[in-house]
Amino acid sequence: MSLLLNRSAFGNPVNKGNLLTRESAVQLFQEWVLNPKLQVHMLQVAHLMKCWAKETEALDEQQQWMWELSGLLHDADWDQWPDLHCKKIIEHLEELQIDPDVMHAIASHGPNHFGVEPVNKMDKMLFAFDELSGLIHAYSLMRPNGYEGMDVKGVKKRLKEKSFAANVSREEIQDAANRANIALDDLIAFIIPRQATVTA
Ligand SMILES: [Fe+2]
Ligand SMILES: [Fe+2]
Repeated sequence: MSLLLNRSAFGNPVNKGNLLTRESAVQLFQEWVLNPKLQVHMLQVAHLMKCWAKETEALDEQQQWMWELSGLLHDADWDQWPDLHCKKIIEHLEELQIDPDVMHAIASHGPNHFGVEPVNKMDKMLFAFDELSGLIHAYSLMRPNGYEGMDVKGVKKRLKEKSFAANVSREEIQDAANRANIALDDLIAFIIPRQATVTA
């Protein structure tokens, strides 16, 4: 089964700046994503995106929300329509005339799966956070005290341990960090304390 999108342009540039309200985004999220584990993952990635936009890029609130929204919806169709992963949510957001940057970020969150390369910083950060965030959360679940006392070293150890979260591609994590031009250690250090505030 191929998830290739076979295109690299999404939405219409006239819709730039057009975002869902938080209320309608949350409604869509709740209707489409029923799996609580996937919900946590998407909320964590959304939070990381918002924090990065605010703290590192110093973007305004509207832009912060755009980053958060991209994270919040990036896996929206994975739960109920895995064969249409990415395609369905993108087409839906296109119908709603949402800012093309949101669709592009979602479309490029897995270049090896969807065939769309991350281009701008928002694309690259979504790709960089996605799998690494999932691996770090899996690590928290096997620790007696969850995120408490978790450090970069521990995460690096899990990364080297191939049997841990074996379905998570280490190559992809490294590739994503390289594309974002951020050292893996820095990325991990950013994720741990922020993600710790968003758990089930
Ligand atoms: Fe995904
Ligand atoms: Fe994801």
